Amino acid sequence: RCENCKSSFFIMSSKPNIQVCLVSDLFNNHIISNDTTVVVVDLLRATSVISTAFHFGIKEIIPVSTLEEAKKYLTNINTIVAAERNAEPIEGFEYGNSPFQYMNNDISGKTLVLTTTNGTKAINLAKNYNLITASFINSDAVCNYLNSIENDILILCSGWKGVFNLEDSIFSGFLVNKLISKKDYNINCDSALASLELHKNSKKNYFKFLSNSAHRKRLKHLNIEKDTLFCLNPNITSNIIPTLSNGKLVRMNLV
Ligand code: MLT
Repeated sequence: RCENCKSSFFIMSSKPNIQVCLVSDLFNNHIISNDTTVVVVDLLRATSVISTAFHFGIKEIIPVSTLEEAKKYLTNINTIVAAERNAEPIEGFEYGNSPFQYMNNDISGKTLVLTTTNGTKAINLAKNYNLITASFINSDAVCNYLNSIENDILILCSGWKGVFNLEDSIFSGFLVNKLISKKDYNINCDSALASLELHKNSKKNYFKFLSNSAHRKRLKHLNIEKDTLFCLNPNITSNIIPTLSNGKLVRMNLV
């Protein structure tokens, strides 16, 4: 049952369920089974950065929730440590959370330790479940994979510091729409229905639809609107599905 919908009936069906959690702080309100696959979304920018880094050869990504944890890795060899808070890089860390910092082969074969305002917290919140990360960069691979398994799905929007954001919800609607176009699912979750509607109303031009969104304005204020443009309409496509294993995001082995 999707707590968000307050529905009082269970659908006893062979079809997998899809739920959308609109803000990571609501994650524990969603009733999911142990074999649910959680798809973490932080479109602007953490999961787009994660997809970009893997595309350019990063070996693994360790998502940490605090700056203190990240600092412990600063002396590790073959390791990049990246930190962002409030969309800005943190002094003392070589990398921040812009996908453009990872579009080079210097990172190939290295370990990335990443801490961001919301995205890495959402990952650690759901770390006990089958967990993958999604962005527009790897959305085809993610949807093909999810359509190929029978697990229930919960799309976990990172949001912003405990409140709703538009971009993660729009992208969730994009994913739900893509999934149900190829396979039958139960959708007994108003958050998922809301995400579908948001996507329907924004898909012509995500950037324009988000003109007044909090994070687009935040990134514009920091003169990094090119990051928004890239994450909403990336010029790279990746078949890599980052999946969490023993606290590290690694490439899912799809064979
Ligand atoms: C987040 O983790 O909330 C975002 O990725 C912040 C950002 O824009 O870097």
